[in-house]
Amino acid sequence: MYENLVRGQTTCLPRGKQQRHSVTMKTKNTTLLEPTAKGIDQAAKTLAAGGLVAFPTETVYGLGADARNGAAVAQVYQAKGRPAFNPLIVHVADLETARRYAIFDKTADRLAAAFWPGPMSLVLPLKDSSVLSGLVTAGLETVAIRIPAHPLAQELLRRFDGPVAAPSANISGQVSPTDPAHVMDGLTGRIDAIVNGGACRVGLESTILLPRAGNVALLRPGGIAVEQIEAVLGVPLLRPQDPETPRSPGQLATHYAPSARVRINARTIRGDELLLGFGQVENAALNLSDTGDLIEAAANLFTCLRRMDDLCRQSSKTTIAVSPVPTGGLGLAINDRLTRAASPE
Ligand code: TXA
Ligand code: MG
Repeated sequence: MYENLVRGQTTCLPRGKQQRHSVTMKTKNTTLLEPTAKGIDQAAKTLAAGGLVAFPTETVYGLGADARNGAAVAQVYQAKGRPAFNPLIVHVADLETARRYAIFDKTADRLAAAFWPGPMSLVLPLKDSSVLSGLVTAGLETVAIRIPAHPLAQELLRRFDGPVAAPSANISGQVSPTDPAHVMDGLTGRIDAIVNGGACRVGLESTILLPRAGNVALLRPGGIAVEQIEAVLGVPLLRPQDPETPRSPGQLATHYAPSARVRINARTIRGDELLLGFGQVENAALNLSDTGDLIEAAANLFTCLRRMDDLCRQSSKTTIAVSPVPTGGLGLAINDRLTRAASPE
């Protein structure tokens, strides 16, 4: 018989932080903000309120959300229609702020000194996994971090005074936007605001680097030429095709998978299982969203999986059973992650 480990149903976020959203996406009134102090101020306030703001960087326009706010980050995926949770780049104003979230070794320090602010992202060990939303790092122990050089991005990050998670501001599968008109074409009605900064200077996404074990792997070629980076390091980069380099950034370190087994679409629980619920279900150890809210469930997903793993370990259970999660909206990406967790490579 199943024993209830935690009495009652407990979602992963403290009560005050839970947000209620409808499953279908409401049309938002998307404001085009002028690149003035007033416009930036409004953009920062929108981010602070959990809203979505597209803003220019020197590479491409980013779709920003407060990286500490899981529900806001979940809505980034929803607005882009991303079918899977890839980790996002965290944008900060300066190195001091970057050090709050990531651990820099000597190589990382050197790269930062040479190329920041600028079109480079560094994948570094996460400093304190409790500060950033688990959805930003997709449950990984690393975080991609970048200090953009664009003056408007800089101003926004300073005014907001916090970490901004931002993938490129396009619908999933379309090319990255380098002009506010591209952002409007794709995302009008889906996001709160766009900071109008005109065309992007570089037009290519940032170069993504992973300093690791004495060398540096190129995860994604981008705005800074490999030759420039190698000149600073004095050694060649591991190239994407190198067998030691992870195949692509999204596939890095494979994906987060709990150590317990995962069984999805569980309607009943077996003796060796703990239930991760969704919606009104009984005997759940934890619940992704007891109101059946997909945005809340996405925001809770990685944190809940980690907690369930701990609970399984403490109670000698082998398996996390997960209630069925519908596949509409963010449910598609949630199911994608759960399916991967249920069948690790
Ligand atoms: O120039 C850029 O990088 C733009 C601007 C807005 O900053 N952003 C951008 O983000 O291109 P996005 O989400 O389209 O691409 C981010 C890439 C993804 O391929 C993701 O897999 C990788 O960064 N990434 C993020 N965090 C990672 C991590 N912890 N480990 C490995 N790869 C990571
Ligand atoms: Mg992109």
